[in-house]
Amino acid sequence: MSRPNEHEPLVLGLETSCDETGVGLVRGSTLLADAVASSVEAHARFGGVVPEVASRAHLEAMVPTIDRACADAGVRLRDVDAVAVTSGPGLAGALLVGVAAAKALALGLGVPLYGVNHLGAHVAVDVLEHGPLPDPTMGLLVSGGHSNLLLVEDVTSDIRSLGATIDDAAGEAFDKVARVLGLPFPGGPHVDRAAREGGQVVIDFPRGLTSGRDMERHRFDFSFSGLKTAVARWVQAREQSGEPVPVADVAASFQEAVVDVLTRKALLACREHGVADLLIGGGVAANSRLRALAQERCEAAGVRLRVPRPALCTDNGAMVAALGSHLVLAGREPSPLDLSADSSLPVEQVSG
Ligand code: KG4
Ligand code: ZN
Repeated sequence: MSRPNEHEPLVLGLETSCDETGVGLVRGSTLLADAVASSVEAHARFGGVVPEVASRAHLEAMVPTIDRACADAGVRLRDVDAVAVTSGPGLAGALLVGVAAAKALALGLGVPLYGVNHLGAHVAVDVLEHGPLPDPTMGLLVSGGHSNLLLVEDVTSDIRSLGATIDDAAGEAFDKVARVLGLPFPGGPHVDRAAREGGQVVIDFPRGLTSGRDMERHRFDFSFSGLKTAVARWVQAREQSGEPVPVADVAASFQEAVVDVLTRKALLACREHGVADLLIGGGVAANSRLRALAQERCEAAGVRLRVPRPALCTDNGAMVAALGSHLVLAGREPSPLDLSADSSLPVEQVSG
């Protein structure tokens, strides 16, 4: 990590698009603080994020989390030079809490406001750990809410979507399969752990959108809904026949189907677009098998792999501050104070 330069702008980043209240402080490309309050436990008994519960939790956590970030960084709020906030995509009510807080702070402090795209922020965060992003970089974003392949020509202005999931997000598939296997929510880490004891090729689960015709129409898109149903049917058939369900084998074979498709398509995109750097972000990037297979396939293809540490892969405020800081440094226009939250903000719209 580079040493902070006092002449670089100090940017506060707020993230509230889902169930994490994230507050980050970044100076230039240096991470000073990354405070996160999660409401995940409040959603666990519902088996998924409940939007109203998430919004209320953001309201309660916002001020204490800002205070914690300032204390961790050893800065005062009045030292902040710009405020960045996730303005979309995400849960509308949850986004609104962050956007309202950011507007109030920007107005009160008399500093510019930058509404930023959540997906762009997942990409930008890696500059805090691994330095400047090569132009272009291929971004594979995999979380509970998104599965996207992004061609990043310039993280502050030029991000293009090459493909996305046409149904469930990768993390959502992990969470649903975990439920079928009787594992707790959020399921990703539990499936990952269970899979370590199982066989990856014991059950041949389908690889969505990889057949000849699908590769023409949906070359860089993903589909995990059929896989999720295949796992549920397989488990149900076992249960009906009275045989025990081999949880570890199901977890490992399912996980292999997901990470096989993700890495295969990401590397195909790198090859076809002449990109030599692949960045994987989002909560599913914490998956141990995804990291290992991506490393193996990148090495074989001569592609450099960048994966931020797990705490920077899941939703956080540092990623928002990182993108905000790059917008400031690139001299981009701030957002107007009537900035609105946009739950379906297109990925191409990096700010606003
Ligand atoms: O990025 P994130 O914190 O929030 C969203 O924007 O969704 O991602 C959360 C998702 C959940 O679906 C969770 O099950 C998944 O990331 N996840 C994992 C692992 N750790 C978290 N999936 C697979 N393996 C993991 N180790
Ligand atoms: Zn996210």
